[in-house]
Amino acid sequence: MADEPAPPTEALDLDDARRRYHFALAPEDLDRLPFYSALLARLEADDVALRLLASVRVEQRNPMLVLAVLHRAALLGHPVLAPIYEVIRHGVSTDVDVAADAVVEVVRHEPEVVRAQLWRSTQTNEPGRSAVLQAVVRDLVEPGRTMAVVDVGTSAGINLFFDRLPVRARDDDDPLTLVCEDEGPVDRVTPLPSVGARVGIDPNPLDLGDDEDRLWLKACLWPEERRRHQRFDAIVARYRTWPATTLLAGDALERLEDALALASADDVRVVVNTWSAFYFGEDERRAYYGALRELGASSNVAWVSIESTLVAWPDLEEATDERRRGASQVVVSRPGEAPVRWGWCHPHGRWVERLSRT
Ligand SMILES: C[S@@+](CC[C@H](N)C(=O)[O-])C[C@H]1O[C@@H](n2cnc3c(N)ncnc32)[C@H](O)[C@@H]1O
Repeated sequence: MADEPAPPTEALDLDDARRRYHFALAPEDLDRLPFYSALLARLEADDVALRLLASVRVEQRNPMLVLAVLHRAALLGHPVLAPIYEVIRHGVSTDVDVAADAVVEVVRHEPEVVRAQLWRSTQTNEPGRSAVLQAVVRDLVEPGRTMAVVDVGTSAGINLFFDRLPVRARDDDDPLTLVCEDEGPVDRVTPLPSVGARVGIDPNPLDLGDDEDRLWLKACLWPEERRRHQRFDAIVARYRTWPATTLLAGDALERLEDALALASADDVRVVVNTWSAFYFGEDERRAYYGALRELGASSNVAWVSIESTLVAWPDLEEATDERRRGASQVVVSRPGEAPVRWGWCHPHGRWVERLSRT
């Protein structure tokens, strides 16, 4: 896609961009990720970085896009960025303030490195969310029933394999293991339902077998999180041995019916969105919610939504819980029932809290 012209300077909302950089990471992640913390603090204070973010189309005006674009340039061998990110990715001890200063110098003096790639979308495909999906699915699908999964905003479809990844409370050195701490009555014991159709929808489905797509997926990972990189590599090495998936190109509402039609009649059809409704326009989100309510009321469709608290669903009270600042809200509906809040989780599934059994 071509480099889109930036909007006129006077239209840019730099205060909004500053806030977005400031709140890009949850407090717990700021502590865990000293390099990204230092980098975001500098980007928030840099005029060029503010203008770059403010120039992005609103539904993708996410600091993670700028961070991923910089990471991609490093992975492609940018002479300044490559050695810095190499050290960070390998966990070699380094002065993160010096490293972050050097990255911001690149942004300031070579803004084209970032600007030319801002047409992209944040497409982080986070398998950690499968740990949350496993817990919720055990709740929504009665034992003995089979299910189909429709993942809306699927990226490369990694979470269509949600049942293939073991979940443990502690790391066991297997990169495929998802490490997730459970709070509240989370079921990790009942066998998962067997899964028939696995269908993803995305305006730009990514292909784990394609070099350019894999590069972007890697760039969207945070360089300090070695385990996520190892897990991604392990999934790439393994996914062809897992059950087949179908990825449909298009928007959520355009393809939802096509996707549901691929399930067999007996399956509970579980529609999932994880950090994708965040990128819908306001009207699309409302229409999507309406469609799911209607489908859930009249057919065998359940819904699992794992999204930022900034995603407001029409009939649900605003999700405010200061204790859970930076967390994702888990909303579900069972066939025939209205959506309810199920609980909270870390945006990458590092912990999950179930509110209470409903
Ligand atoms: C941050 S990624 C999340 C991917 C995946 N759900 C996960 O949790 O790993 C957001 C995805 O939503 C997709 N997306 C954006 N707008 C969409 C829409 N209107 N309908 C369906 N998917 C959309 C993007 O292309 C992107 O792949």
